Amino acid sequence: MTDSATNHDPANLELSPDTMQAMADQVLQRVLAHLAALPEAPGCGDYDGIEALCRAMREQAPEQGTALDALLAPLFDEWIPRSFTTNGAGYLAYIPGGGIYTAALADFIAATTNRYTGIWEAAPALVQLEANALDWLREWMRFPPQARGLFTTGGSSAMFNAIACAREKLLGVEIRRGTLYVSSQSHHCITKAAKLAGIAHDRVRVIAVDADYRMRVDALEQAVAADRAAGLQPFMVFSTAGTTNTGAVDPLEAIADLAAREGLWHHVDGAYGGCFHMVPGLRPLLAGLSRADSLTLDPHKGLFMPYGTGALLVRDGEDLRALHSASAGYLPENQGEFYDPAQYGPDLSRGFPGLRVWLTLKFFGAARYRAALAEKRELAVWAAEQVARIPGIVLDAPPQLSLFAFHLESAALPTLAARNEATRELMRRVTGRGRVMLTGASVGDRYLGRVCVLSFRTRRADIEACVRYLAEESAALLAEAAAGRRADP
Ligand SMILES: Cc1ncc(COP(=O)(O)O)c(C=O)c1O
Repeated sequence: MTDSATNHDPANLELSPDTMQAMADQVLQRVLAHLAALPEAPGCGDYDGIEALCRAMREQAPEQGTALDALLAPLFDEWIPRSFTTNGAGYLAYIPGGGIYTAALADFIAATTNRYTGIWEAAPALVQLEANALDWLREWMRFPPQARGLFTTGGSSAMFNAIACAREKLLGVEIRRGTLYVSSQSHHCITKAAKLAGIAHDRVRVIAVDADYRMRVDALEQAVAADRAAGLQPFMVFSTAGTTNTGAVDPLEAIADLAAREGLWHHVDGAYGGCFHMVPGLRPLLAGLSRADSLTLDPHKGLFMPYGTGALLVRDGEDLRALHSASAGYLPENQGEFYDPAQYGPDLSRGFPGLRVWLTLKFFGAARYRAALAEKRELAVWAAEQVARIPGIVLDAPPQLSLFAFHLESAALPTLAARNEATRELMRRVTGRGRVMLTGASVGDRYLGRVCVLSFRTRRADIEACVRYLAEESAALLAEAAAGRRADP
């Protein structure tokens, strides 16, 4: 589809209403066909010849335009299918994401109206929508009214802002003295964020975990004491409300107590698990989360948003403002009453992430979100019970939230290396069945299989299929291993 007005006047990039309608129709048709085909789409995508494809795709900047349908065809037919099916019901790998439809509509509106939400003055009512959405998160996390937050591009960027905030408040210019504490199961983005925020690797302490993969508070206490004795200044501890490897929830209350005693800033990484706090019945699983000085949430995980939606909450909003607040002669004077994104975050010109969260939460309502999140947890609990009964599978980490981890063990797998390889192969074979995608993780010297239920599309039938595949494939693997051993001289 080309547009005659544009063709006659190359400098005119405006499209006619009819053209825009036709283009939107084409996109919508493609999107609906994509969604309709999701149940049959292989969970792991089609990776055959992917490197050759990527090499062949390299091209020069186009001098002339191309009709939209010619662009959509390879995008939907060739390139999108060659990726993980992250929006599919069978995506149980890593931490599943979302891609809820209403958020896409909000993004379309945000991009076409292209309102400036960096500063309050430019779009006061729209910024208020974002402030509302952040305030709902605050309320669900049971943070106090003076808390303030920020929509970020993801959890990693929320972590970066949190470290900068704590560093500014507690270390000032004395950055090199400051030490920061994570557990061996913390997400790697924290160490990365620390480096970005000026906290070098030699000031990051990795604390051991207990048998349930939760941070050992006694080890944390010792590390803090050792650093103080060495003349350093412990300033920040990260706990995790749902680790990526095994779904472990650190002892948040005990860490909050220690942080209060020691004057540390306590950040809770709730990128995966924080949103379960929305569900009153599940709050006890996350006891202590509300006491954090700051909290990472990832709406592109637990609120089913598209990628690019993270969030940070800071208990005392003034701390966040003290880090980011700035003025310039060309900007309107900052006023105090209303939320002003550029005063609470690093970006000036920015997208409008609040609209996708606001529109979606308003459209579905919190009650349906609570129901969906509660269901994901129930599915994981049910699946873990079934998987624990499969001969040869040992459940290492039952679901504290909606993720569990396990490995294969049998007399036919006599060494750790053999058990690790068999568990890895189990993940591959289950994924190879097409309907679900699973990934494992190396935890210490052990390779663990894992199932994480968080996609809004994942329902009981998908989880039943996953359990069935795990049972069938582990039986086949163990039989092969036993036959191999018998064949050994
Ligand atoms: C527990 C945890 N923290 C942090 C992150 C990083 O978040 P993001 O990928 O949104 O930057 C993840 C990502 O999976 C995570 O699972």
